[in-house]
Amino acid sequence: MVEKIEALKKEVNDYKADSAAQVEEFRLKYLSKKGILSSLMEEFRTVPSEQKRELGQKLNELKNYVTERYNFLKDNATSKNTLDISSIDLTRSATNFPIGSRHPISIVKNDIIRIFSDMGFTVAEGPEIEDDWHVFSSLNFPPDHPARDMQDTFFISRNPIDVLLRTHTSSVQTRTMEKNQPPIRIVCPGRVYRNEAISARAHCFFHQIEGLYIDKNVSFADLRQVLLNFAQQMFGSETKIRLRPSYFPFTEPSAEMDISCDICGGKGCPFCKETGWVEILGCGMVDPNVLKACGIDPEIYSGYAFGLGIERITNLKYKVKDLRMFSENDVRFLEEFESAR
Ligand code: DAH
Repeated sequence: MVEKIEALKKEVNDYKADSAAQVEEFRLKYLSKKGILSSLMEEFRTVPSEQKRELGQKLNELKNYVTERYNFLKDNATSKNTLDISSIDLTRSATNFPIGSRHPISIVKNDIIRIFSDMGFTVAEGPEIEDDWHVFSSLNFPPDHPARDMQDTFFISRNPIDVLLRTHTSSVQTRTMEKNQPPIRIVCPGRVYRNEAISARAHCFFHQIEGLYIDKNVSFADLRQVLLNFAQQMFGSETKIRLRPSYFPFTEPSAEMDISCDICGGKGCPFCKETGWVEILGCGMVDPNVLKACGIDPEIYSGYAFGLGIERITNLKYKVKDLRMFSENDVRFLEEFESAR
């Protein structure tokens, strides 16, 4: 039996296995239940007890040796397979992985900023958590104005001063005028908050862009021309505008601007409620009280302001019917804008 063990050791040592199938053959031949090692174990039972000690040791050594050899052959065969360089095409270009698309609100915001920066406006920003002065008092809101009500505004604290989430980006007007003397020509993009029930047509947060121009001799005609240029660049050179008298505490006179409906070309359709016009923004000449509150002399300077909702412009451009789509981040919706920019 000793010779048998020695011969087996040599045989195992010389065994070559290049593939997984040959390694499996090795296992079956030596290590399986019906393999050579098992039958040697059977034979071992019958040897006289005085030889058992020595033979048992040798048999154990053999078993360890065969198992080691098996592991070695197995590793060798698998690493050979994965390192088979001939099957790798090193000249192939890497797989592209999809990159995200820009959010429609960002696409439209950037378009609006680009149009106004071509006309000399720079971008100014302000905080979303504001105080009463910047959102209401400095902008000539009377103390009992409904916008100051809890029903419309999210208050963070009311003592000692009112701290709140801004309800419009007009607060950035005040912040800019407090720190700078005219000429001032800015657009202020940002998120605003209102205490509204969420539905297809209203949301508790949305986005606005405020515009402000203060200088000597600024007139309503300047405002009209800038807004006409904006409307035609945004919605096409055929677009017409009209200004309707309106009221805002911070402008006098105030107006709302409509553009001709681009679906029916102004003839009247369900989208424009048969009027041929759709409203897009509020505007006006900055009230002298606002200039005074911000440390600018209304005897020397005048200016105009306007404010528009980015969701509104996006709806008009891309016909998104439900405002909630903008904040749900459904990838199927967002991917529709991939080609937009
Ligand atoms: N702040 C107004 C709003 O949120 C929008 C607005 C209207 C801004 C007229 C202006 C303006 O600057 O002149 O509804």
